[in-house]
Amino acid sequence: MNDQLPDDLTCWQYLEHAASVVFKQFGYHEIRLPVVEKTELFARSIGQATDIVEKEMYTFLDRNGDQLSLRPEATAGVVRAMLQHGLLHNAIQRVWYTGPMFRHERPQKGRYRQFHQIGVEAYGMAEAELDVEVISMTSQLWRKLGLTGVKLEINTLGSPESRVEYREALVEYYQANRDSLDADSLRRLETNPLRILDSKDKAVIELNKSAPDVIEYLDDASREHFERVQLLLEKLGISYIRNPKLVRGLDYYSRTVFEWTTDKLGTQNAICGGGRYDSLVEKLGGKSTPAAGFAIGMERLVELLTIEKLCQNRKRQDVYIVQTSEAALEIGLSLAMEMRDAGISVISNIGSTGFKSQLKKADRSGARLALIIGENELQTNTVTIKLLDNGKQYTVSIENLLTDVSSYLENTE
Ligand code: HAM
Repeated sequence: MNDQLPDDLTCWQYLEHAASVVFKQFGYHEIRLPVVEKTELFARSIGQATDIVEKEMYTFLDRNGDQLSLRPEATAGVVRAMLQHGLLHNAIQRVWYTGPMFRHERPQKGRYRQFHQIGVEAYGMAEAELDVEVISMTSQLWRKLGLTGVKLEINTLGSPESRVEYREALVEYYQANRDSLDADSLRRLETNPLRILDSKDKAVIELNKSAPDVIEYLDDASREHFERVQLLLEKLGISYIRNPKLVRGLDYYSRTVFEWTTDKLGTQNAICGGGRYDSLVEKLGGKSTPAAGFAIGMERLVELLTIEKLCQNRKRQDVYIVQTSEAALEIGLSLAMEMRDAGISVISNIGSTGFKSQLKKADRSGARLALIIGENELQTNTVTIKLLDNGKQYTVSIENLLTDVSSYLENTE
């Protein structure tokens, strides 16, 4: 679990801002939910036989003896809330969320016990257009962030009915090849055979090369759905690869699943995962309601943005005011208010009165401009503007200051 320090947070805020703008552009509204839910909610939705529920949840009894868990993900809680507040009845809903999630995993780079997601969920639309909408939201976000080189992998898991048949075929195949299975896969063979497909064990990876492909077991409707998803992605120019081994680690998915991966982050290479989950609402007590969504792992995306140098200069302040007397301080304070009203960020020097030490502080603050109000300036009703990037300085009259500062800030990066 990590502290998030001011220096790190500039990149986070940049990402949060960009995502909230894109989500809003697609008609999604923010929803905020508790981080604690009944354990049973996660067991029922994510699935009893998943790693998350079997061994990763922070679960405890509260003072009433209720069994609760810190949320390991947000989809289950969103469905619970939508049902509880009657938001799904004959309604199309599009929501987004962000916040901390908790999984007791083995900590390593890109895998933490408290991590953060930003994601969306949409309800009431069974069409392939929705799958493509949520995928294109992510691709629009990458564009807004300037991120290139990330890969989209997609797959289909078919309908729950067709999956029964597929599951049987897989079990048969793995039974016939038991010798190549490691202990983990042997266990999964009993509980969750689909997960053997994304095993990281060498022998199992080899075995998986000839494993039955879900595509052969799809019902017609699921096949058409998947074909339409691919067609629309192609029309939108969103490149993808079909990964028949992509099964996702949560049980609620049906039909389309997807992940965005990068080769810049080592083994924890998925920055976003999602898909369709048409049966979950009904399973949690609502009327059958189709749904789809995704969640972005923010630690991983921030790391990637940092590696790609896409977060630089985000921390910059606009202005630092240097003032060397009581009279200058008074003018400086009111100029600062005026500039902030105009949307400029201004740090007003507090404390040390020495000119040099104030300029040093201005430099360290990350400001782009220092505004100096010394004795000369006071007498001539002027302010000296020092460009902290290159040390150049010039003097302007107080009346022209706001226009000058604004146009400098607008016209330079
Ligand atoms: P997920 O694949 O479990 O899906 O998580 C989504 C993303 O969260 C992952 O791709 C990864 O970037 C990040 N993530 C997961 N675990 C960790 C961790 N321990 N440390 C750091 N980052 C992590 C879900 O959670 C689904 N609820 C997504 C979804 C929404 N599907 C439909 N709607």
